[in-house]
Amino acid sequence: MSRQRAKPVADLSPRQAKLEHARLEEEIAAHDRRYHQEDAPSVSDADYDALKRRLLEIEDQFPDLATLGGVSSRVGAAPAAGFAKVKHAKPMLSLDNAFADDEVADFLGRIRRFLNLKIDDELTLIAEPKIDGLSASLRYENGELVRAATRGDGQEGEDVTANIRTLKHGVPHRLHGKGWPDVLEVRGEVYMTRTDFLKLNGAQEEAGGKIFANPRNAAAGSLRQLDSSITAKRPLRFFGYYWGEISAPLGRTMLECRDRLEHWGFTLNSPVTVCHSAEDLLAYYRDIAARRATLPFDIDGVVYKVDRLDWQERLGFVSRSPRWAIAHKFPAEQAQTILEKIDIQVGRTGALTPVAKLKPVNVGGVLVSNATLHNEDEIARKDVRVGDTVIVQRAGDVIPQVVSVVMEKRKPEFVPFQFPDKCPVCGAPAERETDPKSGEADVVRRCTGSVTCPAQLMEGLRHFVSRSAFDIEGLGEKQIAAFYEFGWLKEPADIFRLNKHVPDLLKKDGYGDTSVNNLMRAIEERRTIGFDRFIHALGIRHVGQERARLVALHYPDVRSWLDAMDAAKDREGEAWDDLIGIDKMGDVVAHAIVTFTTRRHSRAVIEHLLKELKDVVPPARPAQDSAVAGKTVVFTGSLEKFTRDEAKARALSLGAKVAGSVSKKTDYVVAGPGAGSKLAEAQKHGVAVLSEDDWLALIGG
Ligand code: IVH
Repeated sequence: MSRQRAKPVADLSPRQAKLEHARLEEEIAAHDRRYHQEDAPSVSDADYDALKRRLLEIEDQFPDLATLGGVSSRVGAAPAAGFAKVKHAKPMLSLDNAFADDEVADFLGRIRRFLNLKIDDELTLIAEPKIDGLSASLRYENGELVRAATRGDGQEGEDVTANIRTLKHGVPHRLHGKGWPDVLEVRGEVYMTRTDFLKLNGAQEEAGGKIFANPRNAAAGSLRQLDSSITAKRPLRFFGYYWGEISAPLGRTMLECRDRLEHWGFTLNSPVTVCHSAEDLLAYYRDIAARRATLPFDIDGVVYKVDRLDWQERLGFVSRSPRWAIAHKFPAEQAQTILEKIDIQVGRTGALTPVAKLKPVNVGGVLVSNATLHNEDEIARKDVRVGDTVIVQRAGDVIPQVVSVVMEKRKPEFVPFQFPDKCPVCGAPAERETDPKSGEADVVRRCTGSVTCPAQLMEGLRHFVSRSAFDIEGLGEKQIAAFYEFGWLKEPADIFRLNKHVPDLLKKDGYGDTSVNNLMRAIEERRTIGFDRFIHALGIRHVGQERARLVALHYPDVRSWLDAMDAAKDREGEAWDDLIGIDKMGDVVAHAIVTFTTRRHSRAVIEHLLKELKDVVPPARPAQDSAVAGKTVVFTGSLEKFTRDEAKARALSLGAKVAGSVSKKTDYVVAGPGAGSKLAEAQKHGVAVLSEDDWLALIGG
């Protein structure tokens, strides 16, 4: 769960930075483990990114904290920063593009002129598909794969040797056969087949992981992992199509070289055809275009290459592309149709996604009736309205997109789309969170219903039973998923009603008497639960373990908490002030808590759960006999004898409540040098102001 860290990094003392850095490292590493090893992330991407950003910000400010092999240098950090750089022995170039038929004829004309060929001199080319993946260069020395690099800027790429070694298709670790040059750099494309891509996305979705937009993105995301054990789990393949540095020639023609490369263990782009004229090339192009949808991988065009290498040599390069080759690209597949409706889908993490419902239209051989509109800002930017005629595109992406509106066909009665501010599934408010630091609204609007929203139930239940929440032994994600499938879980309270399904459960594979008994006993045990765990388990946005504990410490018991939330419903008055006075609270979080606890639907879910529970036990209160037990303290200004966090922890352990803002309920304000508005507030409310030494004296040193 996300945590609001209001303090700007620039204001952290080195010690605070160190503590927070360590905590972040630990937290991020835990999420990484869950994401990558267990394939079961426990935070949204946005929350995860926020943690990462904060960590990097701290490291920027306090560079000593960035350790080699630390979290920031691993998975998910900007890969360019994490991989070693490799200078290519020969630059990795790109290809010139042709779109129209006559550009292909021009290409041949240029070559003929350059080589000064006579009208009846035969010019042989090969034609092969242009794979939509990412290019890589594999270097072999004495037959051994020694280095693999991405293209990067063409001069310098990233060292992905360890990752490339995990590929199960197309990359020999040692060259087969014999006759290979001592130095051989094979260049080609790392890609994913469509079937593998769909399977991967299925698994990712199952695990709540990242969903890739298309096979290319999936391949790129999978190859550029700083942890090669992740790459190893991804179904990547490699097609060779050319070479870089070689210590001896591979052959006289492309076809010969292709044969030899295949012989040494590589898989080359196919189908390949030999062509002698523009007509041949175009026939190949049309044939492949027609078969495009049936090929196992995504292609974005075809490539024509002069077959004779001596001619390639003579032709050479213009700027960054060879004169002897060209990519003949397929046009993006587009069509016009009518936007009949905009549906709002709610994802497993509560994100509201607008989906265009279209009058079905054929786009490049595929019937399209749904297309993504991305998010509410995109709808506004493109001014897409229901009734509009829109241009739909499939461009390698599996998910078709609405590109633009045909404005000439706009009718005055088409009104701007009103994005809902309530979740269409559960009716809870759907909100765009404001980044506390940048003050910018998130592009994604989210349902605030958490586990109480049917669309988020699965995700919510997973969180509910997780370690830091109800922690029910034997009830992990697998079981939750299964019981959910059986239709036994509609809300968290149903976990405590599973006992009525025992006879059915015993009939299922993998559930014996002992395991079912143990599970039921474990569930029974949790009918008594800590108040802090209870709050955390609800999955209220922004309320992680730490805030849940602070809330649980602040109210005597669950009933008084709920009553107080009812009283705070209007976001004003004593109960509200009391809530936002809790440390680490702030408006955004308080708002989320009040919304969650007072909305009819989510409140019912809480009440159902409470009915099933025997006891919700307040956390052990820290020492009650200290001078500050039960007092509310606010720290302000810079403290000199300990960090703010230490001071707070100490106060909490002595039974004090620590608040973030001064109100008339505050008992003490401990003010160090530089104290500002809080000091003024204290004076206004007549609250006792203590120096750090006064405070120490009060708590007994
Ligand atoms: S030949 C010296 N052949 O397309 C140039 N490239 O847009 C060698 N690509 O950077 C490139 N399929 O990543 C070649 N059959 C193919 C290809 C291919 C895909 C990629 C490659 C290149 C990019 C240029």
